[in-house]
Amino acid sequence: MTLIARRSPRRWGPLVAAALFASAVAGPAVPGSAAVEEDTTQTGLQTAAADVTNADGLETLVSDYETRVPTEYTADSWAPFAEALTTATDVVEADSASESEVAEAKTELQTAAADLELLQSTFATITNNTFWRDTAGDPIYSQGGGVFKFGDTYYWYGVHYRGAESYLANPTQKYDNQVTFVSIPVYSSQDLVNWKFENNVATTSTSLGSLGGTMGNAGWIGRLGVAYNENTGKYVLPVQMWHPTQDHGVLFLQGNSPTGAFTFGNFQKQVVNSPTTGTGDQTVFTDEDGQDYLIFSNREGRSRAFVSKLRASDSLMAEPAVEIGRNGDGREGNAMFKLDGKYYMSASDLHGWNTSVNYVIESTQGRVQGDYTDYYTMPGTQMDYSHVTQTGFFVTVKGTVRDTVIYAGDRWADFAWNGIGYNQWVPITKEGTGIRFHSMSQWQFNATTGEFRVAPGNNYILNPDIQADRIIVSNVVGWTRTGSSGVTNVNGGANGSRFALQVSNGAGVRQQIQVPAGTYTLGLYTKGSGRVTVAGADGKAYTLNVPSSSGWAKRELTGIALSAGTATVTVTGGSGNLVADQFSLVRQGGADPGSATRYEAEGSGATCTGAIDGNHSGYSGTGFCNGDNTDSAYAEFTVQATAAGTATLNLRYANGGTTGRPGDLIVNGTRVETTPFGSTGAWNTWTTQTVTVQLRAGANTVRWDPTTANGLPNIDYLDVAQASG
Ligand code: GCU
Ligand code: CA
Repeated sequence: MTLIARRSPRRWGPLVAAALFASAVAGPAVPGSAAVEEDTTQTGLQTAAADVTNADGLETLVSDYETRVPTEYTADSWAPFAEALTTATDVVEADSASESEVAEAKTELQTAAADLELLQSTFATITNNTFWRDTAGDPIYSQGGGVFKFGDTYYWYGVHYRGAESYLANPTQKYDNQVTFVSIPVYSSQDLVNWKFENNVATTSTSLGSLGGTMGNAGWIGRLGVAYNENTGKYVLPVQMWHPTQDHGVLFLQGNSPTGAFTFGNFQKQVVNSPTTGTGDQTVFTDEDGQDYLIFSNREGRSRAFVSKLRASDSLMAEPAVEIGRNGDGREGNAMFKLDGKYYMSASDLHGWNTSVNYVIESTQGRVQGDYTDYYTMPGTQMDYSHVTQTGFFVTVKGTVRDTVIYAGDRWADFAWNGIGYNQWVPITKEGTGIRFHSMSQWQFNATTGEFRVAPGNNYILNPDIQADRIIVSNVVGWTRTGSSGVTNVNGGANGSRFALQVSNGAGVRQQIQVPAGTYTLGLYTKGSGRVTVAGADGKAYTLNVPSSSGWAKRELTGIALSAGTATVTVTGGSGNLVADQFSLVRQGGADPGSATRYEAEGSGATCTGAIDGNHSGYSGTGFCNGDNTDSAYAEFTVQATAAGTATLNLRYANGGTTGRPGDLIVNGTRVETTPFGSTGAWNTWTTQTVTVQLRAGANTVRWDPTTANGLPNIDYLDVAQASG
C-alpha cells in the first residue's frame, strides 16, 4: 500500500468565508486565490458559506476526507480511496477546473469513500421512547425527512418545527397544528446512532428565487429527501411546499456540499400522471445504481402510490410518475426500501400522523417501476401499531454480514401526545420469503456488519404505554380480552401520559410475546386493585397482587424466571377497576447481577448536589442523595472498570412527585441518553432504572444532569455490572 503525500488541510476562517460570501455576490469565488489560501480555523464555515461555488463544495469534501486515518481501514479499500482523494485534491488546486471535472471528482471520491471498509466495527445502542439528542447534547428536531449516505457518512435531513420544542419542554399535552417551519437541519453519523449537528441547510430566510419571498412565507414545508446528482455534482433536496400564492408543489433546493447552504433550484407544481398539484406524502429513494426517485401519493385522497424518476440532467424535476399501488382508503407516509433484490413501498393509514400497522406492497419482477403486489400488513407491526408510529422513512444498510433495513418511524403525530420521543427506529429483516418488523424499545446496531441484537434494557411488552390507539376503544391493540367485555383504554395515564388501560372486576386482558430465557423484572403503574401474572413457555407463572390505591403507584415484581419462547402477561381487575399503565418486562441480563459493584450515593466516590437524607425508608447504606430542586443539581459517581467494555448500570431511585424527573446520563463527558426517572408514587417507593453503557478501563465518571428545574429524584445507589466475556 502506498501512502499518498497529503497536504495539510486548508481551512476557511470567518474572514475567508466572508470574502467568499462577498465574491459570490460579485462573481464566482476562485478557489486557490490569495484570499482562500489563508490558513485559520474552521469556525464559521458552515453558517457563513451562503452561496459558495461547486468547487468550494469539493474543497469541503476533500478537507473532510483528509481526516480519515489509513490504519482504520483495510488496505484494499484504502488504496482506491487514497487515489480518488489525490485526484480530487488536484482538481481543487487547479484554478481552472471545469464544472464537469469538479462533479466527476466529487462522484469518484464519494464512491471510493463509500467502499471504505473499517477494520473494526462496534455495536451502538438505539433507545426508543426517549427524546434523542445530538452529540453536543442538543435535542434532535428532524421530522419527515430521510437519511442518505454520501461517501462513508450518513446524513440525516428533516424539518425542525416549532411545536417540537413545545412538546419536548412539556410532553403532557397536545400541540396540534404547531407545524411552523423553523429550519431544515442536517446531522452526520458513521454509525447511524451518534448524530452530529452540522448545519441548518435551509431556514425561513432561504430565498424562493424566481417565486419571490422566502421559505418563511410558505404555509407548509415538510416531507423531504436529498439526492446527489452525478452530472452536476450537486445535492438536490425536494421538499413538499404549500404556499399561499404559489399553490401546492415540490420545491427543489440544491447545494454544493451535503452540509452547506441549499438554495432555490425549481418549483414543480404537478408531477405528470398525478391527478393533483403537489404530493400527498413523499420521500426520496435512492436505488443501488444511484438513480433517485420521488416516492409519493396523490395529494387529495392519497389512494394512489407513485414512483417518479428525478431527471438525469440535474435532479431538479420529477419525471412523469408511474403508479405502483392503489387503495381506496388512502395511504400516507409513503416510503420505499429495497431488500434482497425486491422493492417495498410502505405506508400507514390515512388519518393525520396517526399510528397504524404498516401496509406494504412489494415488487414482483424486481423492477422499481414494475408490477407490485396488493397491499398487505407488514408482519410485526400489528401489536403496537409499528411501535406507535407512522411510517417515516427507511435506511437500507448493506452490511458485511447481512443487509438490514432500519424503519425510521415518526411519532410526531402533530405533537399529539402519544408517547415520548419523536423518532422510533427498529430493524426490518428478511424472514423466510417475507419481511419482519422487529419492535424493540432498545437494541444495538452494527452499521458495518449490518447485524443487530436486543439491548439489555429492552422492554419486551408491546404497546406498554397504551398509546397506540389514540381513541377510546374496547379492544386495546396488543392486549387481547380474556372475556367478552370490561376492558377499555381511559384518558389520564401515569406520569402525565395520555391513556391507561382499565380492566373492571374480574375482566382481563392478555398479551403474548416472544422472550429469550432469563430472569425478568415486571414493572407497571396502577390505580385500584387486581393482579398481573407472567407465565413462561414452560407454564411456570408468577403473580403480582396489586393492592388497592387511589392514586398512581409504581409496582414491581422481580425474579421472574422465564424459559425461551412465548410468555403470557395477563392483567385482571380486582374489586372495582384496575387502571394500569407503563408496563415493562425487562431482562435482568447482559451482565451477571451477582457481580455488580454497588456505589452508594452517600459514599466517598459520589457527588450529591444537595443533602444526604435518611427520612424516607427503604434505602440501602446510611442514606440517599436528595438533590437540590434545580437543573444544575447533578449526581455523579466515580466507577471503576476492570476492562473496557459494556456495563449495565442500575440506578436505584424514588420519585414521590407526580411527574418524571428526567436526567441526561453523561459517561466520561459524553451524553448517552436522557433517563426518564418516572414517578414511583411515593418517596419511600424505590425502583431501579437500567441503562447499558460503554466504560473504559480504570476510573469512569457516570453522571446524571437534571433536564428540568425539579432536579433529580432521590438517589439511593448505582450498581455497575460489567459484561462477562
Ligand atoms: C420532598 C421529599 C424529598 C424530595 C423533595 C423533592 O421534600 O421529602 O426527599 O427530595 O420532596 O421534591 O425533590
Ligand atoms: Ca430533591
